[in-house]
Amino acid sequence: MDTDTGGQKDTFYVTTPIYYPNDVPHIGHAYTTVAADVLARWQRLKGRRVHFLTGVDEHGQKLFRTAEEQGVAPQAFVDGMLPRWTELLELLHVTNSDFIRTTEPRHQQAVRAFMQVLYDRGDLYTATYAGPYCVRCEAYYTVEELIDGELCPIHRRPVERLEQENWFFRLSKYAPDLLKLYDERPDFVAPAVRMNEVRSFVEGGLEDISASRSAFDWGVPLPWAPGHVFYVWFDALLNYITAIGYGADPGRFAHIWPADVQLVGKDIIRFHAVYWPAMLIAAGVEVPRQVYAHGFLLVGGEKMGKSNATGIRPAELVERFGVDCYRYYFLREISFGHDGTFSWESMEQRYTTDLANDLGNLANRVLTMVGSYRGGVVPEATGEPGDAEAALAADHATAVEGMRAFDRLEFKRGLEDLWTLVGGVNRYVEARKPWALHRAGADADLDRCLATCVDALRVIAVLVSPVMPDAAAALWDKLGLPEALAEQRYPAAAALGGTPAGTRVDRGALLFPRLEE
Ligand code: MSP
Repeated sequence: MDTDTGGQKDTFYVTTPIYYPNDVPHIGHAYTTVAADVLARWQRLKGRRVHFLTGVDEHGQKLFRTAEEQGVAPQAFVDGMLPRWTELLELLHVTNSDFIRTTEPRHQQAVRAFMQVLYDRGDLYTATYAGPYCVRCEAYYTVEELIDGELCPIHRRPVERLEQENWFFRLSKYAPDLLKLYDERPDFVAPAVRMNEVRSFVEGGLEDISASRSAFDWGVPLPWAPGHVFYVWFDALLNYITAIGYGADPGRFAHIWPADVQLVGKDIIRFHAVYWPAMLIAAGVEVPRQVYAHGFLLVGGEKMGKSNATGIRPAELVERFGVDCYRYYFLREISFGHDGTFSWESMEQRYTTDLANDLGNLANRVLTMVGSYRGGVVPEATGEPGDAEAALAADHATAVEGMRAFDRLEFKRGLEDLWTLVGGVNRYVEARKPWALHRAGADADLDRCLATCVDALRVIAVLVSPVMPDAAAALWDKLGLPEALAEQRYPAAAALGGTPAGTRVDRGALLFPRLEE
């Protein structure tokens, strides 16, 4: 069906890839999900209505074989794996709006409806195809793409030769539309390096791709061809629209689609930036606004994965550093879009320097002084502002403006600018020396200084909330503010001077206690 616009798009829609639940999640999977959650929370902070989708990709030959090896039926296998993947979302405080499994009837029905459109338009035809196939990738390769003519370029393992009677999608027909899309909307694929990669791939000539499998029956059956299931990638890509009512609820669909940002790892950019838009164009559905490919997490120089010894479980890290540091670390340490290296040492360093010292100690120090000098009550900002306040205001402006980098998914940039303010408040305390003002009985200046510090901490709590929701909420509680943190909106809530005098602060426990040895 064509999209019937019974409504108008009014929702920011962000997606993660749907993960293969063959195995348990590792920090590479969690990386995409956390980034999507930060983006979702950031958009909500800006007042946008947000729909955030994630889920699992439960079909395909690889999954079928894993289940077989374990001696269980595929459905029982995926049912058994499901909790590992939903627990991860709870562990990392992920606020997804929905979770899709490709074995759900809502998905399967909509896949059939979509593919029927391609079939009716003559974009699917039958032919026999034989070629090198990597079951882990669920993809055919050409001999030229293989390492030494025999290994999968991604998994570096031997490929198989697969010959099947398949249904093919006329991908080649859509090359001109794709090139036009890339030309007209240079941001369709980001970062730019990925756009170049995708463009050269399409310019190199597109071949039709196989859209069905008949060697096994674990997938969505083709309505018109018994014995065939859709190729897992066709099935999987469609999750982004089947979950929001494609073919079932046109009104809802129109409110959410097209997606604003579809986050993927760079290894699956071709599926998302070539096949996916071609499928959508073929079916007369709008393409997403942006497909954004991030880099790989490396451990000891190798791609972190389950097939080598680098697999690190997110729970291990959360146990040691807490969920806030977990979310902060990867986005602050690695430029989103580039590869980056995880190490325990760098994570400890970030925890101790950025979180425990710069932020945790600052909050503790300020609240202790408000406690001992003003009985825990935030004073009126009397006294004349001077150079120190001007310097702090400049750092504040850097942070507030800098956070807009999150719109471009430049999380590291945004956090660096936010830490200019964290550092700025530390510098401000050193410059104003409230303990000396107290000793000298300079009450008006001390009032201004303490009120300014508390106000800046309030702004920091607001700005840091998409990344470190728990720490932000804990800080907010300590500040004793009248309105809920969840009601704060950027940029209004990030303006200076928004802390009412007379609120009662409570120092409480340290935000980021020293790490155990
Ligand atoms: N099921 C497909 C996606 C279908 S989306 C319609 C798939 N699943 S996956 O579980 O293998 O990978 C999911 C995502 O995890 C990919 O975006 C991949 O890039 C990401 N990562 C897996 N290992 C990773 C790292 N070591 N580092 C960063 N991301 C990694 O592909």
